[in-house]
Amino acid sequence: MTTLARPSTSDGDLPLTEADFARIARIAKAGWGLSLESAKRPLIRSRLGRRVKALGLGSFDAYCDVVESGEAQESDHFVTALTTNVTHFYREAHHFEMLESQILPPILQAARQGKRVRLWSAGCSSGQEAYSLAGSILALAPDAAKLDLRILGTDIDPTVLQIAQDGVYDPKICLFPTPALEERVFGRAPPTGGLRAVRPELKALVTFRRLNLVKPWPISGRFDVIFCRNVVIYFDKPTQRQLWARFAEVLHPGAWLLIGHSERIADPQELGLDPAGITTYRHAGAPSGKAPS
Ligand SMILES: C[S@@+](CC[C@H](N)C(=O)[O-])C[C@H]1O[C@@H](n2cnc3c(N)ncnc32)[C@H](O)[C@@H]1O
Repeated sequence: MTTLARPSTSDGDLPLTEADFARIARIAKAGWGLSLESAKRPLIRSRLGRRVKALGLGSFDAYCDVVESGEAQESDHFVTALTTNVTHFYREAHHFEMLESQILPPILQAARQGKRVRLWSAGCSSGQEAYSLAGSILALAPDAAKLDLRILGTDIDPTVLQIAQDGVYDPKICLFPTPALEERVFGRAPPTGGLRAVRPELKALVTFRRLNLVKPWPISGRFDVIFCRNVVIYFDKPTQRQLWARFAEVLHPGAWLLIGHSERIADPQELGLDPAGITTYRHAGAPSGKAPS
C-alpha cells in the first residue's frame, strides 16, 4: 500500500519534479549532511508542500529559492520537515547498562577528585537521551551537582530542541524499559496523570544547544563520553567517516563513543578508536592514525 504517494489535501496537488527533488536533496546535503533517498519523495512532497502553500508560492523550485536565499526562519522549517526525530528514554538500554557498570564509575571518581567531566548527546532530538544520561549519573552520584560535570545536548532541529529545553513530556507517549527508570526521570507519578516535567536535579546537569554536526563546532574542551546514536544513518558514508574522525579528535584518551544500533565505524583503528562493546568505541590514547581531511 502506498498511502504516502497519494497527494494529500493539505499540500494540494503541487508536482514535485525530478529536478525539484534533486535541488531539495542538494540543499539538504550541503546544509546539514542529510542524504535524501528517493523513497522519501512522497514524504518530502507532503511536508514541504505545506510550506510552499503557507508561503503562497507556486512551485517547489520557488520554495528552494527562498530557502537558499538564507532566510533563517524558512531554513528552520526546511530542516524540521526533513529530519527524523524518533527517540526514547533509555533507548538501546544495553548502552546505559554499560555506562553505569563500566564507563561512569571511574569517570565519577575522577570528577570527585576535581576533574572536569563532559558528556555529549550529539543529535539529541527532544532530549530523552541527554536526560537518560543525567538519570544514570544521578543514580550513581547523587552529589553530581557539586562536581564539575555537565551534559551537552545538541541538535539541528529547533522544534525538538525546544521540547528538550522545556523538559516536559506526555507520559502516554514516553517509552521506558522499566517503571523504575521512569521514576528516575520524572519522580513518583501523580495520581492525576497529565504532562510530566523532568526532575529538576536532572535538568540542572544538562545544557541544550543548537549545533550542526557537519559544520564547525563552537565547543571547547574534550569529552569523556559522546553518544551519537541514530543520527549518521541519514548521512552518506564519507560524511559519516568525517564525523567519526571529528568525534575521535574531541575525545580524551580512553574516552567513549557510543553509536546507534544500525551504525558502524568501518576502520576504527585508523581513527584512533578501539571497539569496546556493542556499537561502542574507546579512544585508543595516542591516536594510531590521522583522519584524512
Ligand atoms: C532519530 S534522532 C536520534 C535521537 C537520539 N540520539 C536517539 O538515538 O534516540 C536523529 C536526530 O539527529 C538530528 N540531526 C540530523 N542531522 C543533523 C545535523 N547535521 N546536525 C545535528 N543534528 C542532526 C535530527 O534533527 C534528529 O533529531
